[in-house]
Amino acid sequence: MSPFLLTRTLTEGATEAALRADVLHGLRRTPKSLPPRWFYDAHGSELFEKITELPEYYPTRAEREILIARAAEIAGATGARTLVELGSGSSEKTRFLLDALPGLHTYVPVDVSESALTQAGRALIAQHPDLSVHALLADFTGGLALPGTPGPRLVAFLGGTIGNLLPAERAAFLASVRSLLSPGDALLLGTDLVKDESVLVAAYDDAAGVTAAFNKNVLSVVNRELGADFDPDAFEHVALWDAENEWIEMRLRSRAAQTVKLPALDLTVDFTDGEELRTEISAKFRQDSIRGELASAGFELAHWWTDKEGRFALSLSTAG
Ligand code: AVJ
Repeated sequence: MSPFLLTRTLTEGATEAALRADVLHGLRRTPKSLPPRWFYDAHGSELFEKITELPEYYPTRAEREILIARAAEIAGATGARTLVELGSGSSEKTRFLLDALPGLHTYVPVDVSESALTQAGRALIAQHPDLSVHALLADFTGGLALPGTPGPRLVAFLGGTIGNLLPAERAAFLASVRSLLSPGDALLLGTDLVKDESVLVAAYDDAAGVTAAFNKNVLSVVNRELGADFDPDAFEHVALWDAENEWIEMRLRSRAAQTVKLPALDLTVDFTDGEELRTEISAKFRQDSIRGELASAGFELAHWWTDKEGRFALSLSTAG
């Protein structure tokens, strides 16, 4: 039986301190904002899983289509012996890669959810008895340290989650990933692509209202963790396309003038009628822009694959 190791670089205390800092900073600035990382408590993660099955939300299906079609090419191009997956969650899409990488020695899932890491890790070991799994409980936007496993290494960052970072954050993130790698190692990156506005907006404002519930769930997280008294129903879900920045923005719009108390932060926050709180950006990309951002971080784009409808891309880049 192969080993399952878990390294914790995140403590509950550090997570709570980060939430407090994000909320304090985000609710005191104009316009107000909260970072999207706090969507994903147990309920938020369930809602996200539901989103991935919605008819309007194509990215998950499109990426899965590419992974299935290209797993053997990815394996051949990288010869990876260690696969690191940032934001591994349920590791559902990873199975296609694991099945295709015959020489793989160690899988390193990285996530902020310990339950997701242990559940996914155990299930994978049952199916791949020769594989070592070394899970990292860590925030991948902070400086990561990887276990000393054999190369070549392949880092996978799937789902289009890189789009949740602002351009400057993206540059810092890609540079930090590059610093973990040696020449010849590779990065597999999932990016959603610029397309018709109506398709994009529908993907973030579905008819069944699941994305609206997902968006409002961040208020329940702040209520539970910081004793705040947000009324989620007093806010309206907004999804809009910012054509200049080429990103989708999710916001929560206050339905009335209201005051929210956050006793744990010794903070009272006023919202005017119609005031909007930004909760997420989800940037959409083009091949040229991605190639340039990767090059600035020391990666060379080697392969670019899209789904048949050209909605989503997987790129494979080598560390130079
Ligand atoms: C998981 C970050 C890729 O930005 O599309 C889904 C999250 N937000 N619907 C995305 C999300 C609203 C999703 N990512």
